Amino acid sequence: MPLTDFHIQGYRSVRDVWLKLQNINVIIGPNGCGKTNLYRGIHLIAAASTGSFSKALADEGGMPSSLWAGKRRTSEPVAMQLSVRLDDYRYSLVCGLAGKVRRTETFARDPFVLKEEVFLLKNGQKSSLLKRTKQSVTARTSDGKRADYTLQIQDNESVFSGLRDPHAFPELFALREEFRAWRFYHNFRTDVGSPVRSPHVPLFTPVLSHDGHDLASAVASIIEAGQADLFNEMVEIAFPGSSIFTAETRGLLNLYMSMPGFARPFSIAELSDGTLQYLCLLAALLSLRAPPLMVLNEPESSLHRDLLESLAKLVVHASKDTQIWLTTHSRELADYILDMSGYEPVELEKVEGETRLVGVGLGGYKEDDDETQSS
Ligand SMILES: Nc1ncnc2c1ncn2[C@@H]1O[C@H](COP(=O)(O)OP(=O)(O)OP(=O)(O)O)[C@@H](O)[C@H]1O
Ligand SMILES: [Mg+2]
Repeated sequence: MPLTDFHIQGYRSVRDVWLKLQNINVIIGPNGCGKTNLYRGIHLIAAASTGSFSKALADEGGMPSSLWAGKRRTSEPVAMQLSVRLDDYRYSLVCGLAGKVRRTETFARDPFVLKEEVFLLKNGQKSSLLKRTKQSVTARTSDGKRADYTLQIQDNESVFSGLRDPHAFPELFALREEFRAWRFYHNFRTDVGSPVRSPHVPLFTPVLSHDGHDLASAVASIIEAGQADLFNEMVEIAFPGSSIFTAETRGLLNLYMSMPGFARPFSIAELSDGTLQYLCLLAALLSLRAPPLMVLNEPESSLHRDLLESLAKLVVHASKDTQIWLTTHSRELADYILDMSGYEPVELEKVEGETRLVGVGLGGYKEDDDETQSS
């Protein structure tokens, strides 16, 4: 299910941004304009689907840090809203401060879900599949009945965390599985002590972990699946004359790179930060199990500009099977992707502390017609 839009309000520097999404979405802008805040916003939807929404917010300092800290109009709620459209579905989640609702000091940094909704948008009609308010949670079953879920859901988590019975709620389950399959890469540690640099017990790894600690296994899996030529072609484009292989010693798998002019290959511990970062991106983007959406936050970090063209090729190649969301500082990377794929980058700027889309005024986006008719 392609993600076709993302509307985010009241979250950090993002007071109100409505993004229309395509197959490749490059989000570009200067330091501090809100690129990573948008990345975090979309990550929160995935966290909601796995029952780790409040934990994800706690990792960022909790709800008070996450709410827009600037001025509000009198009508503007002290709440954040995340809303996405996928195919015929609209999902939205609104939450505020638990301290206000529960009158608690101890859990004052917790979110409190004020509203959560899923709509099916078909044939110009909008019908509700899930409706959650402060007081109650009801979901529509496949035979059109309303089921009460009120007691099964924690007030700081999404309904997806407590959903049971896939046969009764096939659409809600399908949506939840879609969100769970989204994949996020924020950054790979490449310092000397990084887990990426340690050999490990080999395991079939069709999906590189978010921190890249299983890089050697992920590369070995790609090679064993018959994709060694493609992998090495991408290595060759970035590092002419070089190739990659994996080898096991005393039960531990290591990754090696052969480079022209050297009699021996270099092991993963000896590779440069940029080389390692590129290899992690290669393993992530050539994954044997393509996700519906891959979200990369500033992947060009620590890459020399000579590697940006190869990275763009890789992203465009991956986009044949995966929708891409990529935030970047690099105009050059955005331009390469535009030249290779035709997808224009989305530019962000900060105006009075607020993240805005360049060239799009507030309220410049209108809902599709099928979102405004209720059945
Ligand atoms: N609760 C909040 N309310 C308003 N603004 C906030 C809030 N929390 C953080 N910010 C602002 O968000 C901005 C940081 O946004 P973000 O990290 O997304 O930037 P970025 O575009 O990724 O920058 P960089 O290129 O440096 O990584 C900071 O300027 C910070 O002041
Ligand atoms: Mg950032």
